[in-house]
Amino acid sequence: MTERDTGSAKVVLGRTLGFLDDPADVGEAESHRFEEQGALVVGPDGRIVWSGGRADLPDDFARLPREDYGAAIVLPGFIDAHVHFPQHRMLAAPGVDLLDWLKRFTFQEEARYADRTHAEAAAEAFLDTLIAHGTTSAAVFSSVHAEATDVLFSAARDRGMALVAGKTMMDRNAPEEVRDEAEQSARDSEALIDRWHGTDRLRYAITPRFAFTSTEAQLAACGALVAAHPDVMLQTHLAESPGEIEEVRRLYPWSKDYTEVYDRFGLLGSRSLFAHGIHLSERECARLHETGSVIVHCPTSNSFLGSGLFDIDHVGDRRRPIRLSVATDIGGGTSYSLLATLGEAYKVARLSGRRLGSLRAFYLATLGNARALGLEAEIGSLEPGRFADLVVLDPCATPVLARRQELSESLADVLFSLMLLGDDRAVRATSVAGERLKGKAP
Ligand code: GUN
Ligand code: ZN
Repeated sequence: MTERDTGSAKVVLGRTLGFLDDPADVGEAESHRFEEQGALVVGPDGRIVWSGGRADLPDDFARLPREDYGAAIVLPGFIDAHVHFPQHRMLAAPGVDLLDWLKRFTFQEEARYADRTHAEAAAEAFLDTLIAHGTTSAAVFSSVHAEATDVLFSAARDRGMALVAGKTMMDRNAPEEVRDEAEQSARDSEALIDRWHGTDRLRYAITPRFAFTSTEAQLAACGALVAAHPDVMLQTHLAESPGEIEEVRRLYPWSKDYTEVYDRFGLLGSRSLFAHGIHLSERECARLHETGSVIVHCPTSNSFLGSGLFDIDHVGDRRRPIRLSVATDIGGGTSYSLLATLGEAYKVARLSGRRLGSLRAFYLATLGNARALGLEAEIGSLEPGRFADLVVLDPCATPVLARRQELSESLADVLFSLMLLGDDRAVRATSVAGERLKGKAP
């Protein structure tokens, strides 16, 4: 992996917050490190060299240039564990349910990505929008087109981002313009893996859209790719909506359930991301747990499409916990903001009688998602050696937030107000590998 030299080293000052572990496992007190007067030293290669309290800053770094964000909170950049690049402008398309929404709006919009010029402009807008919302890494579905996927990877490389992405594969139940063919789709994916996986900070994810739009031949080809490239990710959708599950039952009559379809073709595992997982039986949960597979919770999408209420405690059941992450699922999702996404996850949890504390929520959007993507050695925390992919949040960014802070009594409370009331307006700055891509010098 080559590393960019982003220029000179510097010290970033502010209230720093980084997670060390999941509050659900170690308790809230042990889960994070928060410094009211925090400091980070960023090296010339864009990695964090040192982090801690300002008073303990070693003398060696005392003369470096400083960026002082005052009372704003400096966190690892948000990570979006599931987002669709070719849906970047089609938020709020009012489908009746998932399958209706795909047929009426989504496939037509994704067909436009056959045009390279369209894809190029879209990639710039898409990645700039992630940065504007404080998102510095993501697991991304591209369109079915290999060329649009190249364009997306190039644009992410230009920004120095750690992006996981893949060409969507779908060889049935979709219009011809967005359909591929099993063998060709595997060859295209293989070529993209060769070109991009491990280039700079980029990784590849084999991306069958879902069982409904792939033939058994295509899922088998995905299984062969997974076996041949064990360090590549896999991403798809699972058990999102009742109508979809019914279709999968019809198409795969031999399968006990939805999860067994992917299992049969060797697609479960610790590098596999399954979006949604709302309607899962106990058997499916046990199998996802055994294989170390990840469920990606996409609350704004689930509410918008009426897909169902995700049960965070069922997925995390202590007897067979499934690895969990959170995501926007743009454009089924209705906000690019991980803050808004966490706020919606809180509300969805309440609707099923569950709770999601703010510390756990922020853990999920940072270190939790880094672990889900297998990138915790590179991103997701403020520990030395990680890239300085940072988001700076202003808890008083809007008049409503500012008045709310008059009542905030703890870090957890400030975070809670940010996730319920915040969005891109609360993002004062975003940096990738130490380079500020949003915001002015403080
Ligand atoms: N299932 C298959 N494709 C999609 C998609 O584009 N969005 C969502 N939310 N679910 C899907
Ligand atoms: Zn999706």
